[in-house]
Amino acid sequence: MSTAWTSRYAQRTKGMKSSAIRELLKITQRPEVISFAGGLPAPDVFPTTRFQEACQTVLQQYPEQALQYGATEGFEPLREMIARHTARYGVKAKVENVLITSGSQQALDLIGKLLINSGDRVLVEAPTYLGALQAFNIYGAEYLSVPSDEDGLRTDLLEGPLRSGPKFMYVLPNFQNPGGTTLSEGRRHELVLMADRYGVPIVEDDPYGQLRYEGEHLPSLVVLDRENLRRDQGYSIGNVIYLSTFSKTVAPGIRLGWIIAPPDVIAKMIQLKQGMDLHTSTFTQAVAYEVAKDGFLDEHVKLIRRVYGERRDVMLAAHPKGGLFLWVTLPAGVDAKKLFEAALKLNVAFVPGDPFYAGNGFSEEGSRHLRLNFSNAKPDQIREGIRRLAIAVKQQMEAVSPAIGSRL
Ligand SMILES: Cc1ncc(COP(=O)(O)O)c(C=O)c1O
Repeated sequence: MSTAWTSRYAQRTKGMKSSAIRELLKITQRPEVISFAGGLPAPDVFPTTRFQEACQTVLQQYPEQALQYGATEGFEPLREMIARHTARYGVKAKVENVLITSGSQQALDLIGKLLINSGDRVLVEAPTYLGALQAFNIYGAEYLSVPSDEDGLRTDLLEGPLRSGPKFMYVLPNFQNPGGTTLSEGRRHELVLMADRYGVPIVEDDPYGQLRYEGEHLPSLVVLDRENLRRDQGYSIGNVIYLSTFSKTVAPGIRLGWIIAPPDVIAKMIQLKQGMDLHTSTFTQAVAYEVAKDGFLDEHVKLIRRVYGERRDVMLAAHPKGGLFLWVTLPAGVDAKKLFEAALKLNVAFVPGDPFYAGNGFSEEGSRHLRLNFSNAKPDQIREGIRRLAIAVKQQMEAVSPAIGSRL
């Protein structure tokens, strides 16, 4: 007798649904489609030769270590490198504050596992990173959504939600996905102070901080938390868990990210990670270390900034200051999902705004927005893709109001 698997799935899987959009996005794999949909880095800037050399070095010089099981917290030289690197930006992390993860996505899952009981509320930006919602949903998270504007999360609207006792806040201060917005310095200070006042910790997700194409680097929340609150020089306490990744600065296929947190949080996460995958691939960590070392990563990030900065410029004149995305508000009456279908017929793709909003009350906002990625398509493709998108918008506007459409 064959097993009826579905009746055996755990309770927590019940709310999971595969998104219709995700299914449709499979079509975007077709070569004729210009896709602004994914968050894919540009393959033409992957440091392939450097990877080849790094693999050789690892296999020739320390294969016994690189191919063996390793410590759950990660490959020591890589952790040290990350601690040194973050120190440059003012985060005084030591090696014991760093846990290597299989991409930031695993870090988000670890955070869910560590902090979320079913029914706990998580304060998020509206819109926010869809992958975080997916990770937290599994643990039964509910959400308090706070709107953002061009300066990021509206800290003036935080007090009410903070008073209702969320477990933590999940924030993307730099070049937000999907919004492209950056939290202003003033609001960063305010956020950190409010986190302290209301006793609500912050998870700071920062995959894009280094992909700044203009303007000055702004201090991260983890730094302000220490400075504002005059914490000790080390990072033994604090209200912020910081996440970052090599996905956008090196390559996403290596699945390497990291968490910086107080040591007791790291210790608990190590226990949780042991049950997930024992540790992130030692070989990959060793290769990434060999790729990044001796200043290579710094130089490579400069190249990426140049290439993506140009693509961003091609996509739009009024632009985000970094990151990979543009968040577009549609003209009144044009529905993002309908536009998506029309655009696919013209072989151009994007992600409609809906899935980036947590919970209720924002569905209308979702249908008025879309996310465009500018890193993965080459400048010529971007010009052509935007031309097609403009045709699709015009078609939709004509469908809503023929008079308006013809003026576009
Ligand atoms: C805000 C944010 N967090 C986390 C991730 C996941 O990154 P990783 O490839 O390190 O798992 C992404 C990927 O696009 C992201 O945009």
